[in-house]
Amino acid sequence: MKKVVRGGTVVESTWSAAADLVIDDGKIVAVVAPGTAVGEPTEIIDATGKFVMPGGVDPHCHVGFTSGEFTSLDSYLECTTAAVFGGTTTIVDFAIPRPGQQPLDAAERQRAKAIEGLCDSALHACVVEWDETTAGQLATMAGAGIRTVKMFTTYAGETMANEHTILNTMQATRDLGGMVVIHCESDAIVTDAQNSAAATDGIDASHMSRTRPELAETAAVAAILAIAESQGAPVYFVHQSSTAAVELVVDARKRGLVAFTETVAHHLTLDDTEYAGAEPERFVCCPPLRSADIVEGLGRQLFTGNITTIGSDHCCYDTTQKQSHRHDVRHMPNGLPGVETRLPVIFSHYVDGMGLAPSRFVELTATNPARTNGLYPRKGSLMPGSDADIAIWDPGLEWTVTTGELHMATDYTPYEGRRLRGKPVTVLVGGFVVVEDGKLVDATPRGRHLRADPLDFSGAFHM
Ligand code: URP
Ligand code: ZN
Ligand code: ZN
Repeated sequence: MKKVVRGGTVVESTWSAAADLVIDDGKIVAVVAPGTAVGEPTEIIDATGKFVMPGGVDPHCHVGFTSGEFTSLDSYLECTTAAVFGGTTTIVDFAIPRPGQQPLDAAERQRAKAIEGLCDSALHACVVEWDETTAGQLATMAGAGIRTVKMFTTYAGETMANEHTILNTMQATRDLGGMVVIHCESDAIVTDAQNSAAATDGIDASHMSRTRPELAETAAVAAILAIAESQGAPVYFVHQSSTAAVELVVDARKRGLVAFTETVAHHLTLDDTEYAGAEPERFVCCPPLRSADIVEGLGRQLFTGNITTIGSDHCCYDTTQKQSHRHDVRHMPNGLPGVETRLPVIFSHYVDGMGLAPSRFVELTATNPARTNGLYPRKGSLMPGSDADIAIWDPGLEWTVTTGELHMATDYTPYEGRRLRGKPVTVLVGGFVVVEDGKLVDATPRGRHLRADPLDFSGAFHM
């Protein structure tokens, strides 16, 4: 039976209007004027007074991620269930090799988990050290639709890659229709800042900001842009945390480089005063939360168009894990749970609170993440032919974020007690209603591993 989502305001990245969506066999098959007769037995989903948006695409989501002695706590089913409750219907996870493991092995292991998901997922590969097998592994992964490759300029001894490895990987991914997606912090500046904090005021979680200064980020962004420019390779900067970092990317674009900025929900909605609170360890992430001024400046970049995507950088650690080394941030698990809260906190703060256009919200959180990951227009769009992954939002619904009512596999949220306005109330995945009126009504794991198309940035899209 066909389904029709009727009576809502359809919000695409470039337009919004009163319209009905017709769904058949898991796909959108038509966008029609409100009330148009569809002419055969049809299930009606009432969206009166609601925004009908493409399901969110989270371009940065760690599932069951092992770093050092810690593994984040969620399974694919748990992570994607939380994602869907938060209006996200596609996640892009990372296959990060453990020391000694090859990128292809890491990708195969992580890819096998996709079928446990409630929604679809894609993967970023990861290269830590270049050897004579790496080019072949990257080609094999590109053939399997894994085209984006995560790299790190920090975390020495774990995932940090040197500049030779980064340059070689950029060259190879460029020729395979892929792209390096990179975490930029200068490891030398971070290590020095950590040592000096340890020798003076202390290295516990309350000193997190000082241990990873903004200069560490901008220095690494500048170095990586130079390597990308030398290779004419596209590059995507993950979790940029300040205007200074974003502006380096904007300037490179003006010189003709294909370069993208991702920022993440917590850098847009939380600031470093959290480190002065009672439980600073709950907010330890890399880069760290920045000052309120920097957060405000970064938020302004959403309106200028300089930011390409908003991710979550979801890492599902619990308070026991976060507390275990809180006296020394060098040994703590980094990252915050956020796959479920990414869209609601951004919608509430920026769309409801500051007038960001709903279409720009869709562009930042669904359409552009789909584009930069070779998933568009299958994902991130509601046009005919796209997957029927749909989030129906009640823009006026007021609610309070509280851990007990979230679905992430952890015992805290960095947003505990925050009042929000706007929430996805009904969510469809591949044409199936999975969440209805805020309740899980279909827990069938239909998740698929998505093969990314070769990346093509020649067409116009807002960067
Ligand atoms: O603090 C963070 N961001 N942890 C997750 C790993 C990473 O750097 O993306
Ligand atoms: Zn990172
Ligand atoms: Zn991350």
